[in-house]
Amino acid sequence: LPYFYLLVWVFFLFLSLSLSLSLSLSFQYIYFILYHKFIMWVGPLEEVELTFALKQQNVNQMEELLKLVSDPDSHQYGKHLSLEEVAALVRPSQLTEKVMQNWLQSHGVKNCHTVVTQDFLQCVMTVQVAETLLPGTKFHRYRRDSHTLLRSTSLYSVHEDVHQHLDFVGGVHRFPPKGKDISKGWEGARQSALGYHLGVTPSVIRSRYNLTAKDVGTATNNSQAVAQFLEQYYHPADLAEFMSLFAGGFTHMSAVERVVGTQGGGKAGIEASLDVEYIMSSGANISTWVFTNPGRHESQEPFLQWMVLLSNMSAVPWVHTISYGDDEDSLSDAYMNRINTEFMKAGLRGISMLFASGDSGAGCRHLTKERNTFRPSFPASSPYVTTVGGTSFKNPFKLTYEVTDYISGGGFSNVFARPGYQVAAVEAYLKSVQPLPPQTYFNITGRAYPDLAALSDNYWVVTNRVPIPWVSGTSASTPVVGGILSLINDQRFLKGLPSLGFINPRLYKLQGKGLYDVTEGCHLSCLDDKVEGKGFCASPSWDPVTGWGTPNYPALLKALMD
Ligand SMILES: *[C@@H]1O[C@H](CO)[C@@H](O)[C@H](O)[C@H]1NC(C)=O
Ligand SMILES: *[C@@H]1O[C@H](CO)[C@@H](O)[C@H](O)[C@H]1NC(C)=O
Ligand SMILES: *[C@@H]1O[C@H](CO)[C@@H](O)[C@H](O)[C@H]1NC(C)=O
Ligand SMILES: *[C@@H]1O[C@H](CO)[C@@H](O)[C@H](O)[C@H]1NC(C)=O
Ligand SMILES: *[C@@H]1O[C@H](CO)[C@@H](O)[C@H](O)[C@H]1NC(C)=O
Repeated sequence: LPYFYLLVWVFFLFLSLSLSLSLSLSFQYIYFILYHKFIMWVGPLEEVELTFALKQQNVNQMEELLKLVSDPDSHQYGKHLSLEEVAALVRPSQLTEKVMQNWLQSHGVKNCHTVVTQDFLQCVMTVQVAETLLPGTKFHRYRRDSHTLLRSTSLYSVHEDVHQHLDFVGGVHRFPPKGKDISKGWEGARQSALGYHLGVTPSVIRSRYNLTAKDVGTATNNSQAVAQFLEQYYHPADLAEFMSLFAGGFTHMSAVERVVGTQGGGKAGIEASLDVEYIMSSGANISTWVFTNPGRHESQEPFLQWMVLLSNMSAVPWVHTISYGDDEDSLSDAYMNRINTEFMKAGLRGISMLFASGDSGAGCRHLTKERNTFRPSFPASSPYVTTVGGTSFKNPFKLTYEVTDYISGGGFSNVFARPGYQVAAVEAYLKSVQPLPPQTYFNITGRAYPDLAALSDNYWVVTNRVPIPWVSGTSASTPVVGGILSLINDQRFLKGLPSLGFINPRLYKLQGKGLYDVTEGCHLSCLDDKVEGKGFCASPSWDPVTGWGTPNYPALLKALMD
């Protein structure tokens, strides 16, 4: 071989090695292995279901369009798209479809399903085929509590020819995040022992946020939803009992309209009970859906599966509340960027996506023995969702004003830049509030959250037929805000107006109008010498602890009725 050819050959070898890029790797599995020691061997003929996120077209155009339909000062405000119109915009190019088809077929993968938008493919194949399709993978079964998950923990690669048509492959690495204990039960129990706390019930929520008996849903086409992913189930009998115990004085529904996914037979979860019980108390008399662990296969990721489902259903509820999140640093940029375009699709359709801001304040990540930083969570940090923080009553005896609940998640994204709609609000905060935490702890240019807040402390919940007090967390505040937005949608529908859709651009233009500003208290963070457990603090106007504040329904309704 002439020397020149050898060089070219080496060059191409190098090129093809460096081009067969590794796709999304999550660090989640490291925790998983630490917590779950049971790893089992998997036979080569067992089946896995993988989700292929195909490269979409016109993503930039979609982002521009989302700005227009969500900006109340634009002529296009509220001119939402149907799922079919979204599909026409984003569906992958014919080349992408062809390359994917050839790739899968050449490996004998035939059992695939697509969605209306054509940008996801879900395929069932044997472990043996999956391991040759994605070189590097090695599937194992991991035991968690009473069930198992099929996952590979090693990096995989795909050839550049395929890689450029693929955002990521789901069902390989990611484990569901471990459910956090949302109840600050012991602390509440201590207060109760002193004999003075009755806790938050629907009537407390409704009077604090100025909802009268007349403020219930009446529009025929209105609907709202909660989504659950952590093997959490609500039980219809719990909901009925909750409503009969606590929901006096206003018209409400006592049953869920539709369950999408698999309702497990096991015990009800506090979190699932909480979400359903409170979205149906603030968003009273509004048809409610529950999306619950929609994965049909143990290799599926329920959160991703829920996003895939939304792209395959032309009629879905107008408001979704989700109490789910992962550390931003445990997710790949490819994965988060793609999930963001899924949120854009929802916003374009006029759907409001509300995420709990998390229950660890600013969070804490230990970089080295001496160095810590705050730890933002995703999707809370996504610029395309509305993130809800938490508050508590100043005086637990009474319906007083609200202060920061110290657990309220908030902070600045390390991945997503500050979106235009919040630039003025966040800069005003950074300028006016001193002292801020040291700048080594947070990324001052990032998307800041939450956007607004509601009570998150000492709720009553009925679960497994037992009323339980002192349930706390932003998973309580999020459905409360969701229900209130649904009531506003309801009034808009009665006037022939479109749904609120992605509310952030409009919310920040209100400058706090229609909301009770929360100005007291700080949330928690790292327990080190530099910050001593303190994250950010609430302040007049917007802040990264409680956002713009908590809803005052009649005032917010008035501000959002055109
Ligand atoms: C999407 O819906 C269609 C029609 O209901 C169905 O045939 C298809 O399997 C669904 N796709 C997925 C990925 O579930
Ligand atoms: C409750 O909603 C239904 C429509 O789902 C409506 O017909 C009824 O009038 C509502 N009840 C009240 C008290 O507004
Ligand atoms: C309800 O919504 C569906 C589709 O979203 C629409 O076709 C139908 O006309 C609506 N019905 C009413 C009464 O507005
Ligand atoms: C800070 O956030 C920006 C996005 O706003 C990002 O590009 C940058 O990498 C982040 N810096 C660090 C150190 O995380
Ligand atoms: C909210 O309720 C309080 C107490 O009932 C009342 O004083 C106030 O005027 C109400 N606010 C609005 C905007 O209606």
